[in-house]
Amino acid sequence: MIEQQRTLTERIRALLEREQAVLVAHYYVAAELQDLAEQTGGCVADSLEMARFGRDSPACTLVVAGVRFMGETAKILSPHKRVLMPDLAATCSLDLSCPQEAFNAWCDAHPERIAVVYANTSAAVKARADWVVTSSIGLDIVAHLHARGEKMLWAPDRHLGRYIQSKTGADMLLWKGACVVHDEFKGIELKLLRAEHPDAKVLVHPESPASVVDQADVVGSTTQLIQAAQTLDAREMIVATDIGVLHKMHTVAPNKHFIAAPTAGQSATCKSCAHCPWMAMNGLSNLAAALENGAPEIQLDAGIAEQARISLDRMLDFAAARGKTVRASGDLARDRTLFANVGPA
Ligand code: 13P
Ligand code: SF4
Repeated sequence: MIEQQRTLTERIRALLEREQAVLVAHYYVAAELQDLAEQTGGCVADSLEMARFGRDSPACTLVVAGVRFMGETAKILSPHKRVLMPDLAATCSLDLSCPQEAFNAWCDAHPERIAVVYANTSAAVKARADWVVTSSIGLDIVAHLHARGEKMLWAPDRHLGRYIQSKTGADMLLWKGACVVHDEFKGIELKLLRAEHPDAKVLVHPESPASVVDQADVVGSTTQLIQAAQTLDAREMIVATDIGVLHKMHTVAPNKHFIAAPTAGQSATCKSCAHCPWMAMNGLSNLAAALENGAPEIQLDAGIAEQARISLDRMLDFAAARGKTVRASGDLARDRTLFANVGPA
């Protein structure tokens, strides 16, 4: 098995070079894919950073190890690059919960509200939205829009929407979607676990239910949780997100002890089994095959992609203006009126 893994890894390294490709991976994919991405000049990141990295990379081919919306986002931001994925069937329950027709009808029914959507949506939904956000920047963007007096539609994650609403006081109507992984975390079980580990800090992804978020010491995107794992002054941490992040957490904080938050009660066979079934569809074999065959490749309707880029660019402009961490690309200031409104309040 180890030998087979080594052979595949070497083949992928050679193919990445041959195809002038970079591997852009999410923290929830298998550890060997995360390591390979970093070792070959690609990146492992949260969904915001994956989008930025893919856009700014000089490579002509991006191989996205994650779920479909991440591949689509890469293609929208880099229409002239080839975007490959190990398996295009790797979707997301949030994306599935928000079909384009129903979302359009919802927007049509509320013309007085602007539509803010989570990145975990299809290109067609992003094309209809006014803003796209990820978990790392959603709170800041909604606070900014609220301060501007905007009323909002929020889709599709109801837990993230509720969390942002509770923090900002914004007027938001919430879609009823949920992440099949984070929705499983149990507040009651977490409370019991905390009693067993009274000094442990609790790190929670905001796609989790309120009963879990309310017990958190830190709420944030995968990258923000990994940073907290590294910087918080605690030896034990309970982590409420996909167990894929534990690989990076162990790397950045090798002397700390990480405990996966409970997804089930005492009698269950698996008490902490938070792992995204679609992220798990990414492996070394299908990654090698994608590079070898130049397929499967993300293909998008050009009109939809162009429209979706406007709402994605708004997010990236906002992030750049706030954090000054993003290199501005040529056409970022396309919507100059908007750009003028972005920035510290
Ligand atoms: P992040 O943007 O925090 O990486 O989250 C993406 C995701 O799909 C979480 O389930
Ligand atoms: Fe979607 Fe949840 Fe999987 Fe993230 S973990 S990709 S939100 S189903």
